[in-house]
Amino acid sequence: MGTNLKMYKNNQETVSYLKELKEKVAAFRCPELELFVIPSFTALAEAVKAAEGAIKIGAQNMYWEDAGEYTGEISPKMLKAIGVDLIEIGHSERRHKFGESNFDVNRKVLAALRYGFTPLICVGETAADKEYRITNECLREQLKIGLYGVTGDQARRLWIAYEPVWAIGVAGKPATPEYADRSHQVIKETLAELFPDCGQEIPVLYGGSVNSQNATGLMEQPAIDGLFIGRAAWEADSFAAIIKQVLAVAQKKSELTLL
Ligand code: PGA
Repeated sequence: MGTNLKMYKNNQETVSYLKELKEKVAAFRCPELELFVIPSFTALAEAVKAAEGAIKIGAQNMYWEDAGEYTGEISPKMLKAIGVDLIEIGHSERRHKFGESNFDVNRKVLAALRYGFTPLICVGETAADKEYRITNECLREQLKIGLYGVTGDQARRLWIAYEPVWAIGVAGKPATPEYADRSHQVIKETLAELFPDCGQEIPVLYGGSVNSQNATGLMEQPAIDGLFIGRAAWEADSFAAIIKQVLAVAQKKSELTLL
């Protein structure tokens, strides 16, 4: 589970946040926890150092070319050089405020895989898609185009975040656990169809107005593997409290699969 800091924390704020979070999470002693933080570009190099490998660090975006006449863009090569682990691709704000298409997402996914990053691909329907009852079609299209050309072997490195656009941010309303779970099932079915050998194992995280009141209910759903959080995770204290809840549910879930 993890958080995208969007365009909020500067360099120093990111580093002190990471240090505090690292201390709090160390107390949980849970090596299975895959914790990630996705800061702004300007904070990335110092964030990697501050995280000391205890927290994965991701970039919020990335261009797909290695180098060239692309003013204002950041290449996979540059991110590799500072030790970033993960690349967030196709966040709803990138798609809807900056016009990124499924085809752009695909180019970025392939570039991220080429450089050995973990691509965290965000998909989700808009309020209009939901109204017209084309949520499933929209998710399938985002996945089929976004993951076009990914090999079965590469697919083992993918992470997916389901983030309904209408659920994200201050104006968003969280999806109910049942609604989110149904969409996660559609995503998992599509992944299994695209990658018969490992599609079922690709982690699918839920994001969109997650907070301490709804985190447990969401995590209890069978097809929700983790959470991707914005506002509720931007104070180390409140993020740590949610992580604790999630660990409790994850433990219960793994006991269930043991039975
Ligand atoms: P939110 O953001 O939790 O603040 O709604 C989620 C996201 O944009 O990933």
